Order: sequence, then structure tokens, then C-alpha cells
Amino acid sequence: MAKVRRVPVTELQPGDLVARDVLSEDGRILLSTGVRLTRTYIDHLAQHGVEAVYLPDTAPPRPPAPEVSRRLRREVTNELRQLTANLRRTMQQSAAAVQLPELHLDTSGIRRAVVRVVSEVITHPAAALPLQELRQADEYTLLHSVEVCLLSTMLGRAMGIRGTALVDLAMGALLHDVGKVGIPTAILNKPDRLTDEELAIMKRHTTLGWVMLREQPDLPPEVALVALQHHERWDGRGYPLQLAGEQIHLFSRICMVADVYDALTADRVYREGIHPTEALAMMAGPMREMFDPGALETFMAAVEQVRREGTA
Ligand SMILES: [Fe+2]
Repeated sequence: MAKVRRVPVTELQPGDLVARDVLSEDGRILLSTGVRLTRTYIDHLAQHGVEAVYLPDTAPPRPPAPEVSRRLRREVTNELRQLTANLRRTMQQSAAAVQLPELHLDTSGIRRAVVRVVSEVITHPAAALPLQELRQADEYTLLHSVEVCLLSTMLGRAMGIRGTALVDLAMGALLHDVGKVGIPTAILNKPDRLTDEELAIMKRHTTLGWVMLREQPDLPPEVALVALQHHERWDGRGYPLQLAGEQIHLFSRICMVADVYDALTADRVYREGIHPTEALAMMAGPMREMFDPGALETFMAAVEQVRREGTA
């Protein structure tokens, strides 16, 4: 038999030749031996939760994981940048209107990029840990959202979420702060503490994001719920609805953990991030009441594990 090697789905390229049948979880053949891969096939495999495919051993070696992870971040960031720029323009055009404009978001590009993120995180969980890069105020929300997407995917996977549900979680996490396009940049980028009035305006990004996303026929309701609920706290002291415990959707509880971890550890222009170990200690200590205990525990174990593997 010809020599084959196992290649993670995230590293497959269009044109690669399938060397062994690829089966779904329930044993159906998704792709037969001898098929040449296309981008659609690769996305399809990721959506079915396939982790790796056998290719002939003659193919050239693939780039290492960190490079893949950088390329993915760039791809997702670009898609999200495009979507938010369109949204912001629509919002500005309708600034005089009392009602929100009717929005038709094309989320297909984002979905394709997210599917690749999911398969990347499945094969290289360490790629989900935030890249330590200085974040400018105007790009902060964008880059933060991408990291929250990666971390939420890692945590969701560790909590047993699979297949399209994992993709939906990743979409929700990527779009969790999309409502910020409707918040004045002077408030968004203010380095000092917000006044009570500014804080009240800032908090509206949750409902605003939900209103924008819930009408989109291509997005399942859970995706919009993450935008609405990602500041709800397990102890019921969050916003906007002061939901508590399991009243908060699991995706939102996962996103909350990822959101806080990345916000604590990120280096910003006006504030240096906290060391990951210290951030985890704060989350398990003084901030504990905010989080779903199961999600927090799984997150801590997952971060510790991928950090250990990353440095091994
Ligand atoms: Fe937020």
C-alpha cells in the first residue's frame, strides 16, 4: 500500500489528493479516495467535525501551526473589518432616523473564515491563545473579537461542543461586540474611567448587537444571543437583563470567560496586559462569581494544558 500521512483539516489545500476515504461520525463516506480537494470540500469537512485527512506521503510539508494561526487571524480580522465598516456606514447614513435601518448583513465570508478557525483550533488548541501584540485603540474591538472567537472555540470544544454548534459558538463570539459600531468612538476609546452616563451608553452595545443580528436569516438565534448576553454574569449582577446561572445561554457563558481573559491579558496603548497566570488567578479568585463555574474550570484546565504543550 502507498505511504500516506495524516494532515489536519486546517492545513489542507485545494488540489490535495485524498489518499483514504473520509468518514463522518456516523460512518458515511464524505469524500472517497482519489478525490481532489476544493475549498468547498475542505470547509465541508470542517463543518462535519473531521479533524484530519490522509494524503499521499509525497506531498510537500505544510507550514507550522503558528504560521497557520497568524494567517487565519489575518483572514478573520479582514472579514470582520469589512462587515463592521459596512455596518458603521449604514448606521451613519441613518443617524438622523429614529429607527434602526433595515440591515441585510452578508455573513458568508465570516462564516467561511470561522469554519477555518474552528478546524484550526481543533487540531492546534495552542493556536487559540491570544497573540501578544500591542492593540491600538481604534482596532481594539476588532482584534479583541478575533481572540475571543478563538478562545471561545477552544473552550467550547473542551466542553464537548462539536460540529455546526461549535461554528455557531465561534460566530457568536466573533460578533459579540458588533453593537459597538453604534457607540460613539469618543466613549469606546476613552482611556479613563467612563462617567455613569457614558457607561449607560456603552452598555447599549449588547442590545444593539442583538437587534442587528437577530433579524439575519443566515444566523441562528444563539449567535445573536451572545451579543445580547455576553455581559450577563452567573451571579445575576451583569447587564442588560440581570439574568443568572443557566438563564444565560451556554454560548454567552463561554464567551464571557473568553472575553474577560483576553481583556485582562491584552496589551493596549494605554495599559499593559496582565500575565496569563495572574489573569487566571483573578478570574478564579475575586472575579469568580461572574462566571459559570464549569466553564471557568474547563477554561483554566485547557489554558494550562495548551500552555504546557506550547512550551514543551
Ligand atoms: Fe461587550
